[in-house]
Amino acid sequence: MEQSGVSRRALGALALGGAAMGLSGCEGAHDTDLNPKSRQFPKDFTWGVASAAFQTEGAQDVDGRGPSVWDVFEKVPGHIKDGSDATVATDSYRRYQDDVDLIAGAGLDAYRFSISWSRVLPSGEGAVNVAGLDHYARLVEALLAKDIEPYATLFHWDLPQGLQEKGGWKDRDTALRFADYARVVVDRLGDRLKNYIILNEAAVHAVFGHVLGEGAPGLKDEALLGPVIHHMNLGQGLAIQALRAGRSDLQVGTTMALQPCRPAGGPWAIWNRLASDGLDALWNKAWLDPLFKGTYPKDMDEFLKGVVQDGDLAITRQPVDFLGVNYYAPAYVRLDLNAPGKIAVAAPPKGSELDAFGRHIDPSGLFEVLDRVRRAYASPKILVTENGCSDAFSNGPAVLNDQFRIAYLRRHLQAVLAAREAGCDVRGYFEWTLIDNFEWDLGYTSKFGLVAMDRKTGVRTPKASYAWFKALAESGRLPV
Ligand code: FCB
Repeated sequence: MEQSGVSRRALGALALGGAAMGLSGCEGAHDTDLNPKSRQFPKDFTWGVASAAFQTEGAQDVDGRGPSVWDVFEKVPGHIKDGSDATVATDSYRRYQDDVDLIAGAGLDAYRFSISWSRVLPSGEGAVNVAGLDHYARLVEALLAKDIEPYATLFHWDLPQGLQEKGGWKDRDTALRFADYARVVVDRLGDRLKNYIILNEAAVHAVFGHVLGEGAPGLKDEALLGPVIHHMNLGQGLAIQALRAGRSDLQVGTTMALQPCRPAGGPWAIWNRLASDGLDALWNKAWLDPLFKGTYPKDMDEFLKGVVQDGDLAITRQPVDFLGVNYYAPAYVRLDLNAPGKIAVAAPPKGSELDAFGRHIDPSGLFEVLDRVRRAYASPKILVTENGCSDAFSNGPAVLNDQFRIAYLRRHLQAVLAAREAGCDVRGYFEWTLIDNFEWDLGYTSKFGLVAMDRKTGVRTPKASYAWFKALAESGRLPV
């Protein structure tokens, strides 16, 4: 897949997605807002914020943590747009209690964070690093002490470098090591930590890390796609089995970056449809189908030749207690015979609304993916595990009066309400993210937080959106 010189972030994540279900305006921008009948969320709706270890923790060499693929990737000149790194990030390894206080201060029910595999197992396998696990025990306890439900993601793109050097997700063995890691986590934390998200946006890690080279491990090899996709699905199945074997009282789910894939319009629209269907297969269905149906879409046959072994699809197909859906924007796609997979990202239709960063805004895409999951996969319980928007690209301070973020959240939550009215079983919403953090290849130039952080002093300052989100979480009522 070629990015037409635009990065993933500028596009709001490349991704693919469902055939546009009547919403795909090929020829022009369409009405993007949903108008739910009610603006009231149920009392038991879960309100939270989401984060990831590598983007927040810092403390990379502390308490025996081993390096991850992102530690290696961020050091290569040119990989991180502002030349920064995540060695401090939001300093959350040390300042987790401040994070918890901010979450409690906003009246939220839940916090989604990720566990760094290489803190728990510094080389990815073998000896357990108790000091690393202790950090997560402390975080979980601090959250529970404030009545905040912890949701832990086991893999948010930071594979231990030791495993990458042995082959990483290309190799089947990594799936087995992932299950071992899940076992270690549940043995130590399972008595208090009840909610698990197995993988975060595995499609992004597979495509951007292994084909486009824009994220760790920085590889550019289309041939890796099939093995990486399958071994992540397999590892996910094995990890779910390991968690369930460890305890019977857990809520286990996984998080995907679902994106509607819409063909770019114009004279080549028919051909672009082939490309958008291709992207849909590898971005959405290649993860949803093995989990919910124990199959792969036909379009994946070519990529998966010789990779899937007998019995594997019975392992990838596991009952989950919820599906996590991350949504930022739809993808527009065109056929390009010279691009990997003949798939290239296109600009959204003329007249489409863009946010300050230049990413496409389209709440109808969120409705679309939620409704698709309901119809195609027997209506699982859904948590929106990420959604949010960034300030304009900048090295400067954050915008504290972030009315644009409030509008973005409000419009996407209207889509959530409309999806619930259409029968989608959406039970929670986690805003991305609590504090402006290390935004992967964009460094600190893209800020998604409800709270700003001065990187020199570490001082954290809530933005207007923090108060807005608090009022929403407390009342359950979405303002007009
Ligand atoms: C998602 C990632 C998350 C963050 C947001 C903005 O794709 O899961 O870590 O980068 O985008």
